[in-house]
Amino acid sequence: MKLTLRVWRQKNADAEGAMSTYDVDGISQDMSFLEMLDTLNEELILKGDDPVAFDHDCREGICGACSLVINGDAHGPERATTCQLHMRSFQDGDTIDIEPWRASAFPVVKDLVVDRTAFDRIIQAGGYISAPTGAAPEAHATPVPKPDADFAFEHAECIGCGACVAACPNGSAMLFTSAKVNHLNVLPQGAPERETRVLDMVGQMDAEGFGGCTLTGECATACPKGIPLMSITSMNKEWLRATRKVAKR
Ligand code: FES
Repeated sequence: MKLTLRVWRQKNADAEGAMSTYDVDGISQDMSFLEMLDTLNEELILKGDDPVAFDHDCREGICGACSLVINGDAHGPERATTCQLHMRSFQDGDTIDIEPWRASAFPVVKDLVVDRTAFDRIIQAGGYISAPTGAAPEAHATPVPKPDADFAFEHAECIGCGACVAACPNGSAMLFTSAKVNHLNVLPQGAPERETRVLDMVGQMDAEGFGGCTLTGECATACPKGIPLMSITSMNKEWLRATRKVAKR
């Protein structure tokens, strides 16, 4: 395949960025999108040019590091992480626009790499439990009802890639935060910090500058792990419950 790539280039966080156009040839339909970018970078390096910076780690859809807006869609045309997107989703001769996540809480570091440490700080704010617990207990010592275990697992699938924020017109992180809150709050082990967790995580999310949720639903559509929009409703219920309980104390 022969492709024209229009790629966002930005030297550093303070520099002004712009789209640069590159032609790439000899792209196999079996290549992943990141392998196609590797091919471009090999050519740029051979020419003595600066390769395009982009994030990746596992390349298996697990770590959430890969983060590209492709032709206007977070992670591109398939419901998968960018590393799991293959070139068979494109046609020979296509022009492809490649940009970083666009959100003020995710500032661009260089080219296609953004700073997503705001997510780490939200997770830190809701720490699983602050009491020292010693060695890991026997897994069956605390029975967990099957529906609760399924609910927790469904939300634990969030890999923190940030596609939800990139897809949302408000740059909201409600889907990500709700996945983390719901994953921990439904389990008996998470009960001691149930109220403080949701209040602290939502407070940190607001402090990081993410936008508010207006339920457009773009986040759930873009999520490569299928975190449902109803997660936000569950988190809102948790938050209301926590504010009432804290007010009564
Ligand atoms: S590189 Fe790990 S999910 Fe894509």
